[in-house]
Order: sequence, then C-alpha cells, then structure tokens
Amino acid sequence: MSLSPADQAKSAASARALTLVEDGMTLGLGTGSTAGWFVRLLSERIKRERIRVTGVATSSATVWLAEELGVPLCKLEDVERIDLTVDGADEFDANLNLIKGGGAALLQEKIVAAASGRMVVIADDSKRVARLGAFPLPVEIVRFGWTSTRRAVQELLNGMDVEGREISIRTGSAGPLVTDEGHFILDLHLGQINDAPRLASALNAIPGVVESGLFIDMASMVIIGKTDGKTEVI
Ligand code: 5RP
Repeated sequence: MSLSPADQAKSAASARALTLVEDGMTLGLGTGSTAGWFVRLLSERIKRERIRVTGVATSSATVWLAEELGVPLCKLEDVERIDLTVDGADEFDANLNLIKGGGAALLQEKIVAAASGRMVVIADDSKRVARLGAFPLPVEIVRFGWTSTRRAVQELLNGMDVEGREISIRTGSAGPLVTDEGHFILDLHLGQINDAPRLASALNAIPGVVESGLFIDMASMVIIGKTDGKTEVI
C-alpha cells in the first residue's frame, strides 16, 4: 500500500511510539488522524505478538476505532494509573507545550494525560511552531449561560498579550457542536500567545470554562514523523 506523504509521516511517528509499548501496559489512546494511526499499528502488534495491553480511549471516536480493530479497552475509572498515553496535537513548541482539541476531545484527552505516567505526542513537522497560537485555541465551556462565558473570555483576552482576539463557537451539522461530555467549544483566534501558562490559568479561572486546549508541561516527548518515514524526537 502506498501512503500519502502526510500518512507516511503519521505512521512513522506512530511506529516509533509503538516501540515504547510493553506487554502488560495500560495505554491512553488519543484522538485524531495521527492517534488513529497509532491505534491501527497497536492493533497489528497485539495480533502479531500477542501482547496484553489495555487502552483507555479519549473520545467516542477512538472507542469506535479501537473496538473495530480489536484493541481491548477499559474505562479510566476502572484503572488506577495509565502507564503511557500516545496522542496527537494541533501545535507543539520547543518546550513541549501544546494546543490540542482540534478534534473536540480536549477534555478527555487532558484528563487521560494527567492520569498517565507519561504523555508522548506524535505529530508531523507542520505542527511545530516557535510560539503557540496560529491554530485557533479550543476552549470547552458548559452550555448553561454560554454567551456570558464567551463575554467573560472576550474580556480576559482584551487584557492578554495575544495578537488576535476573535472568538467563534464551533459548529456541527445542527448548530453548535456538542462534545462527548455535552459541552460547547469556543475557538480563540489568537495568532500568537506570548504567555501560554498565564493564559491557561486565567481561562480555567472563568466560571463556565471547563478546560482549554493548552497542555502546559504535560508532554514528556514529541515524536515528529517525516514524510520520508524518518522520525525526530524532542
Ligand atoms: C483532538 C486532538 C488531536 O490530537 C489533534 O486535533 C490532532 O489531530 P490530527 O492528528 O488529526 O492532526 O487534539 O481533540
């Protein structure tokens, strides 16, 4: 099977991440096209080597994929600790800080990453940035009073060191997109975030904000897949 350059990069990063998997591990399984590659390669290894691993999925989409491919799953509430989580990202910087949530799964992704001994990010070179913010920052908010929460986020942005300040509500096929946990997503068009840790804390302090897609100091490694099938690790 010949792969597109993008899939070549995603599969290379996933194959490298797979070398970190050991028999008996509990694994956090991320969401998105790159994480999907990891789940596919994991399923092949489970069948080939008969390793016993259990996955904790970060979204309903990943549950469906893992079930279809025969990757054993359990719920996060049924495990004490996850050994390793492998997930994609929308952006990463040199400090391994991330923007995630392009697939609307940031809340479960962050809870699973926080419960993991190690979070490894798999990505291609297009996700590498000098400063986070070109990718619109997803923020998960509760539905109750969501326009008030949006106003509060707007007021916060007015006092923050960012390039742009536009906010949009993420839409699905029938109005605002509803996440797996029943919330809405705001996308913050910031252009450049000059103090990501400060913005992450300030967003989390707003009533109605559940979580932001800023993953600060959570990833321990980023594996960058290249279109020639090579990888780089930072
Ligand atoms: C989902 C995510 C994904 O990991 C992120 O959007 C990257 O996806 P892809 O690998 O398809 O580019 O955070 O909420």
